[in-house]
Amino acid sequence: MIIAIDGPAGSGKSTVAREVARRFGFEKLDTGALYRAVAVVCSEEGIDLADLDAVAARAEALELAFEATGEAARIAADGRDLSDEIRTSRVDRIVSAVATNPGVRRALLPAQRSFACGRDVVAEGRDIGTVVFPAAELKVFLTADPRERAHRRVAQRHEHDGAPAPAGALAREEAETLADIERRDAADAANTVPAADAVRIDSTSRTIDEIVCEIGRLIAERRAS
Ligand code: DC
Repeated sequence: MIIAIDGPAGSGKSTVAREVARRFGFEKLDTGALYRAVAVVCSEEGIDLADLDAVAARAEALELAFEATGEAARIAADGRDLSDEIRTSRVDRIVSAVATNPGVRRALLPAQRSFACGRDVVAEGRDIGTVVFPAAELKVFLTADPRERAHRRVAQRHEHDGAPAPAGALAREEAETLADIERRDAADAANTVPAADAVRIDSTSRTIDEIVCEIGRLIAERRAS
């Protein structure tokens, strides 16, 4: 069975997909990690991200290996582990230029589809239900209020801090994060479209547990039909 979880940055996709994978025995596919890996490799190799053909050709030639186990996906490109490099705020800022490149989107399709071959997979991204797995048995489109998404991102960044950050600094960081989220929403909008048959879930005032339970009910329904 394939479950597609699409939605904008910070809507809770990763956490929800991870919990769905853990509780219901699915492998998790984080498709954003693939676009991030292409962005890291191209920027390290000095390829101009505005040169659509050069970036697409590099994505096409890149040997990507990823695994679904553990807290965060592990990903390697041409044999080099990039699992940490792909999560930096620098990559947050440059990755949309790679993800909006149609040649890159085409180049990354086979890797996503072969990962799911013969497996129960929960795949998270933007275009999973529309392009990557249009026949997915269950499609969820997750949204949340942008302010709430900014708040969650900042809380996540500080969850392992020893002491609480000053309120003023946190408010500034949330405002900057909100601006960043709005920029990324605008850049990724064309590729973040809910499938006509997606179940829309607004996560703004709901807990992860509530959403995962709802998805659990939907999985049971789909399996029974
Ligand atoms: O979900 P994320 O922040 O890791 O995604 C990284 C970038 O890749 C972001 O610009 C959205 C884009 N993306 C996409 O266009 N299609 C996907 N299936 C997954 C991510």
